[in-house]
Amino acid sequence: MTTQTEPQTKLDLSWIRAQFPSLDQTANGYPAAFLDGPGGTQVPRRVIDAISGYLEASNANTGGAYATSRRTDGMIAEARVAMGDFLNCDADEIVFGPNMTALTFAMSRAIGRQMGPGNEIVLTHLDHDANISPWRALEETGATVRFADIHEADCTLDMSDLARKITGHTRLVAAGYASNAVGTINNVQEIVRQAHNAGALAYIDAVHYAPHGPIDVRALDCDFLVCSTYKFFGPHMGVLYGKREHLKRLRPYKVRANTDAIPNRWEWGTLNHECIAGITACVEYIADLGRHADSTARSRRSAILAAYGAIQKHERSLTERLVRGLKNLPGVKIYGITDADRFAQRCPTLALRIAGHTPLELATRLGERGIFTWDGNYYALNLTERLDVEKHGGFLRIGAVHYNTADEVDRVVAALAK
Ligand SMILES: Cc1ncc(COP(=O)(O)O)c(C=O)c1O
Repeated sequence: MTTQTEPQTKLDLSWIRAQFPSLDQTANGYPAAFLDGPGGTQVPRRVIDAISGYLEASNANTGGAYATSRRTDGMIAEARVAMGDFLNCDADEIVFGPNMTALTFAMSRAIGRQMGPGNEIVLTHLDHDANISPWRALEETGATVRFADIHEADCTLDMSDLARKITGHTRLVAAGYASNAVGTINNVQEIVRQAHNAGALAYIDAVHYAPHGPIDVRALDCDFLVCSTYKFFGPHMGVLYGKREHLKRLRPYKVRANTDAIPNRWEWGTLNHECIAGITACVEYIADLGRHADSTARSRRSAILAAYGAIQKHERSLTERLVRGLKNLPGVKIYGITDADRFAQRCPTLALRIAGHTPLELATRLGERGIFTWDGNYYALNLTERLDVEKHGGFLRIGAVHYNTADEVDRVVAALAK
């Protein structure tokens, strides 16, 4: 029995699902099961309202001497504070951009200005190509790129190989927080520590991790961390955290008229204001979820942490149910961690293959039954090549988030059994 002082960390799924209008859709007469979260999540009503509300009442460019422009400036400042609470940093360390990929290319060009022959960059085979190609582009400067390998059996990062690849010549280590293909969560704190021991920068791609677990850039001590709000119940936008000293020290490619103050010197042209309004609403949604799960959570940051406590508990049970169900099916091979004792090291994102069927065929059949999954490489190209599945259609990816239900998990298992 719970008392008033005990945090109620259980997720209230009916409260949650009632907030997402799109979850009520049907496809081919079946209720839609959105197991495509890793490609992008659905949004709560308040995000839709914030976007349309901005366009209705505050639509203007920034820096003007009149009401709607001032409201726009205020709205953007609020969104920076909200993302600061989300990542545990200050508002002036938050940079908005169109998506993670564009922000990473911008940052790699700026960092690349100081690179040349003899400098090394360490990447991993687990990463999405958006945390690989922007850094490989710096090979043009004469810098060398090295790759840390994985343990093939469970698709975890080989930390000893990473330690071997990081040397006194390493200037940057770019790694993912979690894999968008096989769900592995990396030991980011240790990756950052190894990078810093060698005098290198640590650039973390948290795009896949953000809907599944709390992020604390101060505790991680990373130099940069990027995420995309459309993966955690917000609009299609990217967000970059940069340590203040780096945002000031590095030289962006920018127009002269743009201010040289941080973070704006990293934001070019007119941003997507309506979506930025949606970002505050999506952070507020997560915080409200936390307050709903734990009425003792006071500050927005503590409410966000409470939300992820409840989210992780629910997602863990979905993962257990899904893996158990899939293991019973003949011909199924799951890529990644399948040992329930180690589920704290993975997200509820499963990559699998079924003998005799291509991933595209499986995703199509599931789609016909209203179950939305993905097939292919999802840009985790280095991984599908490393595991030699790229030429066979990659994997089928089943990706749950907190609004998914046990019933949806059972439906996907039953459909695959057929
Ligand atoms: C792990 C990971 N990194 C980076 C990206 C790229 O993000 P964006 O679409 O915001 O450029 C994705 C997109 O799927 C991803 O899953």
